[in-house]
Amino acid sequence: MELLVLLLASLAFFFFLHALGLYRKRGMPPGPAGLPIIGNLLHIGSKPHESLAKLSQKYGPLMTIRLGSITTVVASTPDVAREVLQLNDEACSGRNIPDAVTALENHDAAVLWISTNEEWRTIRRALNTYLTHQHKLDTLRDLRQNVVDGMLEFLRESEKKKMAVDIGKLAFAVALNQISNTCLSKDLASYDSDDIGGFKNAVKTLMEVDGKFNVADIFPVLKPLDPQNIRRQAKAAYAWLDEVTDGFISERIRDRESQVPRFGDMLDSLLDYSEDDEVDFNLVHIKTLLVDLFIAGTETSSNSTEWTMTELLLNPDMFSRVREEVYAIVGDNGEIQEAKLLDLPYLQACIKETMRLHLSVPLLVPHKTETEVKLGEYTLPKNTSIIVNAWGMARDPRYWENPLMFKPERFLGNGLDFKGQHFEFIPFGSGRRMCPGIPLAVRVVSLMVASFVYHFDWKLPHAKEDMDMNVIFGLALLRATPLVATPTLVK
Ligand code: HEM
Repeated sequence: MELLVLLLASLAFFFFLHALGLYRKRGMPPGPAGLPIIGNLLHIGSKPHESLAKLSQKYGPLMTIRLGSITTVVASTPDVAREVLQLNDEACSGRNIPDAVTALENHDAAVLWISTNEEWRTIRRALNTYLTHQHKLDTLRDLRQNVVDGMLEFLRESEKKKMAVDIGKLAFAVALNQISNTCLSKDLASYDSDDIGGFKNAVKTLMEVDGKFNVADIFPVLKPLDPQNIRRQAKAAYAWLDEVTDGFISERIRDRESQVPRFGDMLDSLLDYSEDDEVDFNLVHIKTLLVDLFIAGTETSSNSTEWTMTELLLNPDMFSRVREEVYAIVGDNGEIQEAKLLDLPYLQACIKETMRLHLSVPLLVPHKTETEVKLGEYTLPKNTSIIVNAWGMARDPRYWENPLMFKPERFLGNGLDFKGQHFEFIPFGSGRRMCPGIPLAVRVVSLMVASFVYHFDWKLPHAKEDMDMNVIFGLALLRATPLVATPTLVK
């Protein structure tokens, strides 16, 4: 009853403000007029990256939208994205924690969601030193090679049985095993199971619900009701991941206590780090970080692999060119070496072009102002949400010739990359919140694509023209229909 009264009171309040025209704060960028209470909700629809790109053509590079009680600004050009992510990096580096994420028991220790404070810096330092530093990546290369050997074994078996392969599902299992081996020296997914697997289930649920439009986020009074059942779903998935990860950590602590030799993986390094009295980093940080990595690093990498393969199967000339490039460094029976793949210009151009045309995280993870911020002629108050429409910029004809065409050549010989300096192309973001997993992601995607192309021919179950290119929007933009093809061994 109390809740109902509160709800009615807030609705009446919004009506009142709307009637007075006060819903748009002074000094804010322009934007579409919204309806009372729901604001611009109907403008956004089920594909926000597309609708926001369209709206920005009318309202400009920095635009205000209002969703319920939440005011958000949307950055839609490279210049404005640079202002947000580089020139005002620190002031714009906050996060709004979605209600779904609060279901994670220790979300206030999660690198993806906390403010860029000292705790966040300690965690990011741990990531850079123990996960993605060049030396660490090289040390753990053999573990990742073993994962690919397992994948090839599975594909050879599939060929013998003339079985079609769901490439995205396989790539997810491989990406998960790449991360789990790097972190825990363990495989967590098997390739031959029809069962989607606990990890895939949990990560898929979280990518979906953490990115889903949640009415409780825009009308906070509704949070206790969880009207779309989003927090409950997230809670079950987080609890599952939490418990399993807890088990890995306890097992490793027992191993260390009984003098089992060190594995030398990320978990060992993180446990050593947590024993350093000088650093405020404990077992809760380790558990939450591992959960964050399983979520942030798997679906994103497998999705990029699936889209790269989609484009290569639609473009046989490009497929052959990648195969020739890999052949030139591997020969007839050699082993594909991950590090060498990073120097193959055409393979890398295909991966970059995929990340441009099929951006995995289309709106980055929304940022929030930590203080009042001046962006050009506008002033954003503290706690304003900021969406950077990386998807829109990557397809904008002002910055790309024939933007809807898959054309890897546009990345050849011009130094254009995704390290956060070319703002029309920021699939990993830019500035202090930029994805810390880039070196691992690039290696994992390159190794998978090169292995698929070098070892196998692939047959689609339908004509190329019938390939479904539709997407489903969540935290990641996924293929609506899985890419399925039948492999034939060539080497
Ligand atoms: C193709 C694969 C990947 C893509 C496209 C991707 C993309 C992104 C994007 C767009 C962000 C948000 C940037 C922002 O807020 O401005 C992000 C954050 C993050 N990514 Fe990735 N990512 C990928 C793979 C990985 C991998 C392999 C890992 C680690 C194993 C990882 C770990 C993280 C973490 C921990 C964050 C949060 C950083 C923070 O908020 O401080 N990602 N990623």
